[in-house]
Parts: sequence; structure tokens; C-alpha cells
Amino acid sequence: MSPHRFAFVGTGSRAISFLEPLVTTYRDANELVALCDSSPTRMAYYNGLLAGDLGYHAVPAYPADQFDALLRETRPQTVFVCSKDSTHHDYIIRSLRAGCDVITEKPMTIDAAKCRAILEAQRETGRRVRVAFNYRWAPFRTKVKELVAAGTIGRIRSVNLEYLLDTNHGADYFRRWHSSAAESGTLLVHKSTHHFDLVNWWLDAIPAQVFAYGDLVFYGKVNAEARGDARLTRYPRYTGEPAAANDPFRLDLDESEVFRRLYRAAEAESGYLRDRNVFREGIDIPDQMSLNVRYRTGELLTYSLVCYSPREGMRVCLNGDRGRIEYHEFIGTHMNRGVRPKDFKLDEKPGAAADGEWIRVFPHFQPDYLVPLPPAAGAHGGADAILCRHFFSGNAAPDAWQRTAGHEQGAASILVGIAGVESMRTNQPVNLSDLAPLRPDAFRLSELA
Ligand SMILES: NC(=O)c1ccc[n+]([C@@H]2O[C@H](COP(=O)([O-])OP(=O)(O)OC[C@H]3O[C@@H](n4cnc5c(N)ncnc54)[C@H](O)[C@@H]3O)[C@@H](O)[C@H]2O)c1
Repeated sequence: MSPHRFAFVGTGSRAISFLEPLVTTYRDANELVALCDSSPTRMAYYNGLLAGDLGYHAVPAYPADQFDALLRETRPQTVFVCSKDSTHHDYIIRSLRAGCDVITEKPMTIDAAKCRAILEAQRETGRRVRVAFNYRWAPFRTKVKELVAAGTIGRIRSVNLEYLLDTNHGADYFRRWHSSAAESGTLLVHKSTHHFDLVNWWLDAIPAQVFAYGDLVFYGKVNAEARGDARLTRYPRYTGEPAAANDPFRLDLDESEVFRRLYRAAEAESGYLRDRNVFREGIDIPDQMSLNVRYRTGELLTYSLVCYSPREGMRVCLNGDRGRIEYHEFIGTHMNRGVRPKDFKLDEKPGAAADGEWIRVFPHFQPDYLVPLPPAAGAHGGADAILCRHFFSGNAAPDAWQRTAGHEQGAASILVGIAGVESMRTNQPVNLSDLAPLRPDAFRLSELA
């Protein structure tokens, strides 16, 4: 069988997690035919890796404005979209219309109009879109799905999910493009899409209505000044700034070869500063958010995201009509440094105590018990490696836990965050059906592609 032809759009930090397995472990089944990015320097960095350490070869590199030429000249079968969130829809739609299938990083896109445009392009072309929801693929989160699907606590009626981002990984979003709502859709879309997808998938439910609050209370200049931390606001970025030497939020791009070559060297051409001060003016996303979701099948979700916590992880409580599951996941902190999968390691930071993951079941009227967990190692709790096997091994067997998410399931997740942003703006509950059509007759997530 001839190898499957992949093109990659977006050669930032994340792309290495997929590109390396594609051209090493899975090179017999696949071919990398092209790269595309707005930064020639970042593409050159990846081509250097491909031709060097990865033992592959350089591939044609197309600037963003030549993507149509990429499609025409290199004829990929699947386009892997790994660029900045606000650009996903454009590459997804153009790829579909050129007859390609698409795998996109989460979030599928960042607002309702772009979501509708993707759904329409998919409908018109019939091509396949998959969303890389790696959270689903981590063995301990799959275990929760297994317990819920087996009816361990009966029918689930409500869920409480608290997610904490810390002052290491969480703060990093406020240095970069994520801190602009126009580029990320806010963290309620960029980050929470993982969490909303998990709940949708665990419950096999489709969200219907959202009410949300959110504010910027920690990052940004005004908040630092109000706390008495005005000294942390006095420089626009960290690298090369002597006054930032003792700033706990400092990120020095010169400290890492990857950062230097991927970002520092590309600043002049791209204007992308990877290390902006998290206490600057102009941040327009909230750093704490709280929201309620009602599902088509009646379940309720109470969700909160805090982005300035001393520790990172999540606590989830699922309440069923025959008991309760408590899921605890504090596996340490990791800031995306664009390193190869073999070099992945958790960051050693004060407060980042990794006290692991556990699942405890509390059946009604019976003793509670801990559930034995499968081992998990590697990037994102082992999820990335399993996801890559699924994407690249050429084995099309359906996944036993229905972990593959298509465009409709991708929409079912982002629309919760998009509705949350709209609810914060209007101070009103928002119906997802008013944002995008999502099979009005369907009840279960598994009925959606
Ligand atoms: N699932 C996960 O665990 C996970 C982790 C990290 C990132 N991600 C996702 O991966 C994607 C990339 O994130 P990242 O951390 O690599 O960010 P990054 O900032 O390092 O890289 C983004 C890349 O997009 C490029 N870009 C910007 N505008 C473009 C355009 N118009 N056309 C083509 N390229 C353009 C930039 O030049 C840059 O190389 C995001 O969608 C993010 O949500 C997912």
C-alpha cells in the first residue's frame, strides 16, 4: 500500500509531538509531503530537525500565503492543522474543499461563525475532520469512561469539574497569543475545550445551554498594581531584561535552544514575542471562569477554571443515581517547550507537587473503593503516544471507547466555551442551538460524527 500523504500547517511548539512519530515510528505507513507556516524561520527549524536528528529529509516549506500551491503541488491526503487557533477554520475549510481530510488540533475553531463555516464545508465536501482531543486518550481518563459506561454509579445526573492552571503553565498563556480573545477565543475555548469534551464524552451527552461568569483578576497590569506588585509590570517582556532577574514569572528565551531557534530567531519576521510580561496592559481574556451547563439529556455540569493557582490539575465529581465517582488528577506541571517526546519532563516548581491520579467510587449504601489505574507515562499522561498510534498506524479499526472525535463532536465542545463567552457578555443563558446547528434530533454525543 502506498504511504499516506500528510501536510502540516503550523510549525510551533506543538507540531513536534506529531511530526516526530510520523517520520520515525510510523514512517513506513506515511509520508510527510510539506510544511506550512507564516514563519519561514520556524519551518527551517523543523526542516533542520527532519533532515538531521530525525533521520528523514527536508520537505517543501510553503509560507501561509502559498497554502493553495501546497495543496495543488504536493497533493496531501490529510492536512494536519497545528497553527494558532484563530487560523484553524481557514486551513480546515480550504483543505476540505481541495478534497483532503483534516486532523486539527483543539480547539476546532474559536467562534460561532467559524464553526458554522466548518460544518458547512464538511457537509458540502463529505470529507473527514478529526479533532486531536488527546485528553480522551490518557489511560486514566479512559478508565473514567469505562466506569461510567459500565453503569458503576447508575445514570449520571450531575458533574462538578474544577480545573486549576498554575503560575507556570497557566501563566504561559498570558505571555502569548492566547491572551488575546481574537486569537484564542479565550481560555474557555482554547483550554476548556478539553474539559468540556471530556464531560461530553464521559456522559455521552450533548450540551444544550450555558450560563457563565468570568473576570481577569490576577494577570494584567491593573491587577498586579492593585496587589502591590507594580515592580513586576515595568518591562514589556522578560528576555534580556536585567530588572526581571528575580521575577518569578520570567521566561528567558535565551535559556533554551528550542526557544531561541523557534521563536527568538523569528521575531523580526513574525513579530511574535513568546515571553511578553503577564502583567502588561491589553490582556482581554478572563483568568477565572465559572459556568453551568445543562445537557439535552438533563445532566448538569458545574465547571470552574482558575489560571493563577499554585498547583495544576483537576478534581471531578460525578453524581449518579446509584453512587458517586471522585476523580483526582494532579500529575504535576508542564509548560510547552517544543521538546521532542523523548525529552518530555515535568517542571520542578514550588507548589507543583504531583500527588498523582486516583479514582474512588462511592456506591450508595456500600463501602467506597479505589479503582486500580492503568500505568501512564510520557507526554500528557501517555495520551499523545496512543493518539499518534491511532492517527498514523494505518489501522482503521474503530476505537473501543469511541475516542475518535469528528467535526460535530469538536463543535459540541467548543460551543460550550463560545456560549460561555457570549453569556459573560450578555449576562444571559445561551442556547447552543442559537450558535450553530448540531443535529437537533440527536441526544447522545455518540450520535454525532
Ligand atoms: N492538545 C494539546 O495538548 C496541545 C498542546 C499545545 C498546543 N496545542 C494546540 O496546538 C496548536 C499550536 O500551538 P503551539 O503551542 O504550537 O503554538 P505556537 O505559538 O508555538 O505555534 C503556532 C504556530 O502557528 C503559526 N501561525 C500563526 N499564524 C499562522 C497562519 N496564518 N498560517 C500558518 N501558520 C500560522 C505560528 O507562526 C506558529 O509557528 C494550537 O491550536 C494549540 O491549541 C494542543
